[in-house]
Amino acid sequence: MTSPITLDALRFLRSPQGAELLAEAATFGGDELRANQRLRARFPAQLCRAALALVQLRQAGREKFALAKRMYFDREGLEMASREEISAYRTARFQPGQLVADLGCGIGGDLLGLAARCRVQGVELDRVRLEMARLNLEAAGLKAALVQADLCRFPLRADGVFLDPARRHEGQRVRRVQDYAPPLSFVQELCRATPAVMVKVAPCIDEAELPGDCEVEFISAGHQCREAVLYFGSLAGVRRRATVLPGPHSLFAAPGPTVPVAPPGPFVYDPDPALVRAHLLDELARKLDAWKLDPQIAYLSGAAPILSPLARVYRLWHCLPFSLKGLRRFLLQQGLFPAEIKKRRFPIEPQELRQLLGLPKEGQAVTLILTRLADRPFVLICAPAGK
Ligand SMILES: C[S@@+](CC[C@H](N)C(=O)[O-])C[C@H]1O[C@@H](n2cnc3c(N)ncnc32)[C@H](O)[C@@H]1O
Repeated sequence: MTSPITLDALRFLRSPQGAELLAEAATFGGDELRANQRLRARFPAQLCRAALALVQLRQAGREKFALAKRMYFDREGLEMASREEISAYRTARFQPGQLVADLGCGIGGDLLGLAARCRVQGVELDRVRLEMARLNLEAAGLKAALVQADLCRFPLRADGVFLDPARRHEGQRVRRVQDYAPPLSFVQELCRATPAVMVKVAPCIDEAELPGDCEVEFISAGHQCREAVLYFGSLAGVRRRATVLPGPHSLFAAPGPTVPVAPPGPFVYDPDPALVRAHLLDELARKLDAWKLDPQIAYLSGAAPILSPLARVYRLWHCLPFSLKGLRRFLLQQGLFPAEIKKRRFPIEPQELRQLLGLPKEGQAVTLILTRLADRPFVLICAPAGK
């Protein structure tokens, strides 16, 4: 669906009358029908749609940007925009004052982080998004040189490049790196033109598609792995890194003794998803003095609880071979209620299990970890250990 927020709509929304329309649109909460009816009495329909869309997007944008209520977005532009804490974190790899080209800058999520540290050029094909980027920089009191151009033909004269390829085609997400716009293979050209190249890719990128000549960092925030970043040339350090924000708390690939596999001890660790994606379980286990429950499954166990931002730690109360009836009976007998259900390599989804158990929300809250031990399905009944 095309966005109602056109260049004309942006111009109007920035006028005193537009500010009035936006302020009024914000008073209707989610009631779009009523809002449309009321606002249309005073403003053209297209501008009402634009104002209502922007109000909703500003609300949604608060998850990513502290300044969201003063920013401009289209739906896809906001969905693709980087979260400001992540953008600020990775931008620190560029030297202050360096000239960095942000190729495909969209609504300017990353431009904000880059412009706070470096001199920046933003390149974007979409005229409306480029205008949004300009307005968003203005809202933050920052500056960048903005160019409407095809990034593949943009004459690079920067010290470094940030590339965040579009991973959507006609509204659908694309997974394969050759379907990105531009495709990931374009990086080879960038590396010939500049000594420092940073590329944001999907956190679920297929291992086989990761280039071999770069550092790969998986970054999580709010216990979700949000993105993977590839660093080429002078930006690359180690081969693989996982970082948990806020912090940053990082772990990187390093050789070490083999981590044993053994049955669960008194504590169980659920590693942060960035570490799982980065395949840094051995490194984490060594750091936590822990062992694996299964060679292929990303739960660890330990004899003593070590609190770390890199993993959640649970005290293990009971470990039962899984059967739906048996688990239900046990939880009822013990007066336990599954407040949280996690799973790895287990065929039942947490929501489905919750429904199948059909337990009342009463009793002591526990966490159920559904997994496999010695290749058989087990449920670990736990409680969070410390915060
Ligand atoms: C993933 S978004 C960028 C999001 C941005 N990093 C942010 O945080 O807001 C990718 C952007 O690249 C733009 N784009 C795709 N191909 C392009 C091309 N050949 N030239 C210029 N821009 C392009 C798209 O229009 C889209 O806005």
